[in-house]
Amino acid sequence: MNGQGNVCSEGNRVKIWDSNYAQTGVKEKLRVLNARFPWLKLVLVLVLVVLVVFCAEEGLRHGTGYSGSSDIAGEDGSGEQHSLPEVEKEKLAIKHGKKTGEEIPVLPEEQYKGRKLIALTFDDGPSAATTPRLLQILQEKGVRVTFFVVGTMASKSPDLLKQEVAAGHEVGSHTMTHANLPKIGVAGIQSETTGMDELFLQVLGRKPAIMRPPYGSVNNVVRGNVPQPMILWTIDPEDWKYRDAAAVRTKVVGAAFDGAIVLMHDIHASTVDAVAGIIDDLRAQGYEFVTVSELARLRGVTMSSGVAYGSFRP
Ligand code: NI
Repeated sequence: MNGQGNVCSEGNRVKIWDSNYAQTGVKEKLRVLNARFPWLKLVLVLVLVVLVVFCAEEGLRHGTGYSGSSDIAGEDGSGEQHSLPEVEKEKLAIKHGKKTGEEIPVLPEEQYKGRKLIALTFDDGPSAATTPRLLQILQEKGVRVTFFVVGTMASKSPDLLKQEVAAGHEVGSHTMTHANLPKIGVAGIQSETTGMDELFLQVLGRKPAIMRPPYGSVNNVVRGNVPQPMILWTIDPEDWKYRDAAAVRTKVVGAAFDGAIVLMHDIHASTVDAVAGIIDDLRAQGYEFVTVSELARLRGVTMSSGVAYGSFRP
């Protein structure tokens, strides 16, 4: 240690001597330069002043641009927002829970701490007749949901499946043919499952990570042969039976609780009609909307294949 210290201090001494020598050289050169070009000093000072003014102005524009537009974005999301850099747009979108681009941003995990969470889920689509309008509403409201798609429907509208994912929603399997799994045996369950794996791979480049058994029908054979966590529900407004937006809204909002999974169907126009009101009412009660997998993760649950989940309470 000591030996090294000495070497170091010797090194420093050499450096000091070197820099003194260099300084003398530089001073001499500057004196010569000054004598030959007396106007050079003035030019250098001018350049410096211009640089300082330019930097100050840039900094100012940056600062006011951000805070000024954030209020506008909060009201109607129009106008000056377009001039913001991408990163700041993202910050704004997160701050206001609104989307600014194609994708609805995912909130940082700490923002969900101690909040009331709820997951809206939509089954049996995608449907060219009703799903695009639902996607539009969700985009306007800045809400992400979970879709459990049926293979026969998704193969008719693969672009809708892609759009759901592109907008930040979660998509899971609802089997190829909306099969009642306990009634079709192991071979049937496997064919329904591999069919969905192939469809997802083809359209999205990956297999489904979660699934919802049609009718919520599960037995031990199903549990043993479904390769994903099975997502059931805890709120069912029976929207397929009551084709009435007001009734669906009242039933969902009246039954809401922290950690609930809400079952709805995006193939019914009356359900799509109910969604904006459901979101408004639940927001007024302090709810945050998350996807099913987010809800599980935020409640500290690691989901397992073949296990059925109906809610994730705090
Ligand atoms: Ni279904």
